[in-house]
Amino acid sequence: MNLKNRSFLSTQDWSLDELSHILDLAEKMKRSGHGRPLSGKSLAMLFFNPSLRTRSSFELGMYQLGGHAVCLAPGKDAWPLEPRPGVVMDGEAEEHVQEAAAVLSRFFDAISIRCFPKFQDWSEDRQDRMIRAFARWATKPIINMETIVHPCQELALMLSIKEKLGLPARKNFLLTWTYHPKGLNTAVANSAALIASRFGMNVTILRPSADFDLDPMFMDQVKDNVKASGARLTVTDSIDGAYTGADFVYAKSWGAIKYFGRWEEEKKIREPLKHFIVDQKKMELTNDAYFSHCLPMRRNVKATDEVADSPRSLIHHEAENRIHVQKALLAEILG
Ligand code: CP
Repeated sequence: MNLKNRSFLSTQDWSLDELSHILDLAEKMKRSGHGRPLSGKSLAMLFFNPSLRTRSSFELGMYQLGGHAVCLAPGKDAWPLEPRPGVVMDGEAEEHVQEAAAVLSRFFDAISIRCFPKFQDWSEDRQDRMIRAFARWATKPIINMETIVHPCQELALMLSIKEKLGLPARKNFLLTWTYHPKGLNTAVANSAALIASRFGMNVTILRPSADFDLDPMFMDQVKDNVKASGARLTVTDSIDGAYTGADFVYAKSWGAIKYFGRWEEEKKIREPLKHFIVDQKKMELTNDAYFSHCLPMRRNVKATDEVADSPRSLIHHEAENRIHVQKALLAEILG
């Protein structure tokens, strides 16, 4: 399978065989180690937002494979960037992506980008302008480190599911919304639903009300995925119904996209929803399910200590898998 120089913007752009190949390679590299296939290769990592896991796992992964990564924070230690074509650049941005992408492409073998939504206007955020602009102007592959999807997290989640549940098809995957004092990115929620449905799992999305529905752009892809595999998709506000029979519980808080830019209004509907916390009582309704979360996770807000520290919790396991799947991805794209 030749994945050299392929961009990785969304798992939906890759075939199931290609995704499975990366997961198999990650499992093999995790078990048996690897040489230094990326000796002399380099990765530019652009972080518009903070990170603990993504930054350290990409940087360390490149080092372990024999390559080198350089981290830049546009607007902090690199110039603020403008992604829109044809604009008069008389605002904050000092440099256009057209130049940044061209120059980084001359220096590096790949460019990876984390650029979250601004949470002011979803109709703007959903266009994912920054990474799309890099994909347009760069001549080297682009890797998504989380924008409005988080495909590397998807790979780490699916590797964890396969390791613990075996074949994922027809296993029951519950994605549950949880309370958080802020309106967070929907990326991981979109991604969890995408990857679970892609691998044939029965997907249940538990959210408090239609206010918290995910964008139809992603839900349509999830529907296509379950249609292709013959699995089931359920969207519900019934906590007991959603947990009953689940094999895997994945917790995430996300913002109500229709309230982006109107936080005071969203806060009012969010405050009474703290009971969506993942606790042992809910977990007892499941099929002895594994629990996971992408991290960072506010303990005793999103999940209780009892759940997070239980033997069925995979929060650290999934985080470790980030480095294994990304090394497999980098080895195939750059090797
Ligand atoms: N899960 C994840 O992407 O973690 P960071 O935000 O710390 O990179």
